[in-house]
Amino acid sequence: MKNKIIAGNWKMNKLASEAKSLVAELKPLVADAKNTVVVCVPYTDIATVVAETKGSNIHVGAQNCHWKESGAFTGEISPSMLVEAGVEYVVIGHSERRAYFGETDATVLARTKAALAAGLKPIVCIGETLDERQGGKTEEVLARQIKLGFAEVSAEEMANVVVAYEPVWAIGTGMTATCEQANETIGYCRKVFAEMYGQKVADALYIQYGGSMNDKNAAELLSMPEIDGGLIGGASLVAEKFVAIVKAN
Ligand code: 13P
Repeated sequence: MKNKIIAGNWKMNKLASEAKSLVAELKPLVADAKNTVVVCVPYTDIATVVAETKGSNIHVGAQNCHWKESGAFTGEISPSMLVEAGVEYVVIGHSERRAYFGETDATVLARTKAALAAGLKPIVCIGETLDERQGGKTEEVLARQIKLGFAEVSAEEMANVVVAYEPVWAIGTGMTATCEQANETIGYCRKVFAEMYGQKVADALYIQYGGSMNDKNAAELLSMPEIDGGLIGGASLVAEKFVAIVKAN
């Protein structure tokens, strides 16, 4: 059995001062965790959170990065800027970015390649909408997101990739996928990765579940054989809830 990767996605929450207190609270509580603990924080919190987590077992992530190393891209942040700031992980292609900021499978691929080239570990998000699930299109959508979003990612690079399966209808809605639904769908994603990279790479790949995971449902979700961790939004903003998820299995 793999350990799990439990990552908080803070989204656009927490001023740097608030980030410092949350991480200071988390540090001793997760010090003995057997799972990998990551917090993906807003850009403006990175310096504070990297300083506060130094010497601890909390890893720091960002929530996006550009696909170019530098240039005339006003408002963007490059992968090497994140690396220099002490960031290890970066969320790519979150459904909120796909829905509100024009993210496509092609830009997901470009950002993922750039993140890997800089030495970051991308947490690449995939997932279907409610309409797609109800229309029986879940597998088709996931297969497309995987085939296009990973088209130029090599088998070697896959060792540094984390995938987050986040059904869009379960994000921030309180509607969690059932354990069986999440397990079965992640199993399907792993099958698509196996077709692309072979079974060994697919088995070693970490695929997280995300979408209304909380301190109450985490143990059951994380006990499922295909689920290698969680990407947690709302519940990652409250220390005791996030710690309960980190320690749920
Ligand atoms: P919630 O846990 O708030 O549903 O958010 C999930 C998510 O989008 C994590 O990336």
